[in-house]
Amino acid sequence: MDHVSIFDTTLRDGEQTPGVALTADEKIEIARQLAALKVDAIEAGFAASSKGDFNAVRRIAKEVRGVQIAALARAERGDIDAVVDALKEAESPRVHIFLATSDLHLQKKLRMTREQALAAIDDSVRYAKRFISDVEFSAEDGSRTDPSFLTEVVRTALAAGATVINVPDTVGYAQPAEYAALFSKLLAEIDGLERIVLSCHCHDDLGLSVANSLAAIQAGVRQVEGCINGIGERAGNTALEEVIMALRVRNDFYGVDTRIETSQLATTSKLVSRMTGIAVPPNKAVIGSNAFAHESGVHQDGVIKDRRTYEIMEGSTVGQAGTRLVLGKLSGRRAVGERLKQLGFSLPDEQLAEFFVRFKELADRKREVTDDDLIALIAENTRGIEQRHFKLSFLQISTGTRLLSTATVGIEIEGKGDVEEAATGDGPVDAVFNAIDRACGNQAKLISYRIESVGTGKDAQGAVTTELSDGEHRVTGHGISTDIVQASAAAYIDALNRLWAIQPQNAEKEGAVVL
Ligand code: KIV
Ligand code: ZN
Repeated sequence: MDHVSIFDTTLRDGEQTPGVALTADEKIEIARQLAALKVDAIEAGFAASSKGDFNAVRRIAKEVRGVQIAALARAERGDIDAVVDALKEAESPRVHIFLATSDLHLQKKLRMTREQALAAIDDSVRYAKRFISDVEFSAEDGSRTDPSFLTEVVRTALAAGATVINVPDTVGYAQPAEYAALFSKLLAEIDGLERIVLSCHCHDDLGLSVANSLAAIQAGVRQVEGCINGIGERAGNTALEEVIMALRVRNDFYGVDTRIETSQLATTSKLVSRMTGIAVPPNKAVIGSNAFAHESGVHQDGVIKDRRTYEIMEGSTVGQAGTRLVLGKLSGRRAVGERLKQLGFSLPDEQLAEFFVRFKELADRKREVTDDDLIALIAENTRGIEQRHFKLSFLQISTGTRLLSTATVGIEIEGKGDVEEAATGDGPVDAVFNAIDRACGNQAKLISYRIESVGTGKDAQGAVTTELSDGEHRVTGHGISTDIVQASAAAYIDALNRLWAIQPQNAEKEGAVVL
């Protein structure tokens, strides 16, 4: 095979993460996104394990197209019947049969002899082949199975007609060179093995699941099993996004690639995280929020000169926003200047030097200096015009369950005096914003509105954040009050003042920095 297949088991092994239980609807949404990511196969569940799992597998098989759908079965006819039934409507079905083959599992867990295990493998694979041609066999705890018995196991599954043979490192015990050698041995000893797909399936107990999967690929494995965000039992499964990007970025080294649409990785990761409730650490490779963020001055300087100095892939390749320079006390003047430029402020050297002094003072007090902070600092330089161009002089609302919300506002506009306007809206906040728009002649669009409680109790303050865009600039406004309508009006007017202040004609008029 000229490519590495991605077998996603987020919905089966990933769902075995402690505390995670997905509904059928959630599974379908994730499965659709996995299809958009273009994984080769989705393991939808363990059909015989519960009615809920069976139904979810059946719905995914029916509703998700363009991708192979697999379901797990023990090496027992009853389990296989459940899979065959659940996958009836799948476009391309696969039965995934597993049986533990290490002596430890056979003796202590299954109470089976090796001979009984071989017979069960032979019977279950042959039985499944009667209904579905694509049959994967997994030798659970394969990496701790006696290698000579593992050869017999694989020979048996192959002779019975398995199309994919998987040798899992079920407890994350294997080391990369050792795991690769296991596959090399099987390939060297078993005739015809190279004609079917060999698969790896690793757990992360020693933090080696990705390294082990990549080592297996080097030994000739052409299917990698794993989960998005590396979720799963105990320390989790192989993080698929990491294997996928290792193969893409280091194609020069591995010489094989997947068919994954990598720009869908970030969306898929976020969806899985939201649905499972398992947060992605910021420093997580590929999909972490810091994966393309640079904090130190030296790094920021390098990235500004040439992104490749500290980035081995582009954020957009994996669907992330891209290079992010985190401004803080370690940032250099150049990085601050660049960020200001991106925000639309081009400061001559002298002004930048002055600005940088104030930036450092702020950075000493705050861990991260955000775009808003920069704009506020710039606005300070414009003699505080953001405080005074539009000023709320009064606000009155009427609202209720049977009333259309109406707001009247008085806005004092610099150089123009008081302007009074009224408007209706879908609730009091909308009505206030509409009235303010009229009074200020605002054309910019509200792109986000957020309200958070500061403290608890019914007298807690509401902190409102509004984001406005005029198509060219985005600004954020803040307002806080025990009255949430007033906090909303303040945040809206704050954003309008910031937007006004960064218009070139206003900045020049006010003797501000040249934009
Ligand atoms: O980890 C494992 O061995 C498994 C098998 C069922 C494939 O998940
Ligand atoms: Zn597993």
